[in-house]
Amino acid sequence: MKRVVILINALSPVPTPDEEDVLVQAESVEGALYELGYESQRIFVSLNLEKAAKELRAAQPDFVFNLFESVENTGKFIYFAPVLLEHLKIPYSGSDSERIYITSNKVLTKKFLSEAGLPTAQWTDNPKELKKEITYIAKPVWEDASVGITNECIMKGEPEIVEAFLKKFNNRPYFFEEYIDGREFNISVLGGNKGPEVLPAAEMMFNNYPPEKPKIMGYEAKWDEDTFEYHNTMRRFGVEEEEPELAAKLRQICIDCWNLMKLKGYVRVDIRVDAAGNPKILEINANPCISPDAGFFVASERAGYSYKQMIERILEDVGKM
Ligand SMILES: Nc1ncnc2c1ncn2[C@@H]1O[C@H](COP(=O)(O)OP(=O)(O)OP(=O)(O)O)[C@@H](O)[C@H]1O
Ligand SMILES: [Mg+2]
Repeated sequence: MKRVVILINALSPVPTPDEEDVLVQAESVEGALYELGYESQRIFVSLNLEKAAKELRAAQPDFVFNLFESVENTGKFIYFAPVLLEHLKIPYSGSDSERIYITSNKVLTKKFLSEAGLPTAQWTDNPKELKKEITYIAKPVWEDASVGITNECIMKGEPEIVEAFLKKFNNRPYFFEEYIDGREFNISVLGGNKGPEVLPAAEMMFNNYPPEKPKIMGYEAKWDEDTFEYHNTMRRFGVEEEEPELAAKLRQICIDCWNLMKLKGYVRVDIRVDAAGNPKILEINANPCISPDAGFFVASERAGYSYKQMIERILEDVGKM
């Protein structure tokens, strides 16, 4: 029987909901691996990489299912796990360390996208370049799962407003992106032997939002069950049937992202469509959340795949160059 290690980031003593989610993913992946005939064990990785290396060497897995996200509430550490696995020469699921590094740094990703001529919202990491009349969204350079994204992040480029924001949120680096007040699509792409398959696009719907309220999938909408945002945002499918032209554009963008970034396994691309109908890439999530209620699995299901089949496809890319 093949042995698999599920690699998980060590959680903080009092984990936040976005952190705890990795355990939900681990449990589901474990179940699927078991059904597929693999024996699995969990290894938690903290900043003590020597300990992790020792445990991985002792476990001698045939491959690792990599669910490592962040440690000590710092998303920037995400590429540490794949670097360690490459060093130990253990094959693993998902994209490689270099690609994880690039895609988890939103500014770096945008530089790659722009250079390749792929559409992404205007941005700057220099507050002095902001224009008073333009509305921006301040986004953490390194975080995922909408950590650090709240309504307070939407602002005009007025120096006083921007300065006050940066003073208040000085715990992590932010950059500024043009706020696109338009439709949002989260599109999952599943790898495997036949190459990347773009799954049905999920449109994020903002129901009952008063006109002045920013329509964003911020931290509340994703994780805080006690908020208006959590209860009034939902996914909707159907763009392929209803608007085939737009769907084809979105599809092509996802394939271009996959090829440009040399991605593997599973990826989710977040896109907004501006007032002129042009899609703009917000970010590329290599190793997106695959808990059973997350967008990636919901889109896989919509395409007719069971959880087990989705995992099987992710495994087809393990060890591929
Ligand atoms: N330029 C933008 N214009 C309008 N809304 C935006 C923009 N960028 C981000 N948002 C909103 O903020 C949300 C989170 O942004 P983004 O997807 O870039 O960050 P994230 O924290 O990595 O999210 P994820 O949970 O998908 O990992 C988006 O889903 C979208 O609703
Ligand atoms: Mg996102």
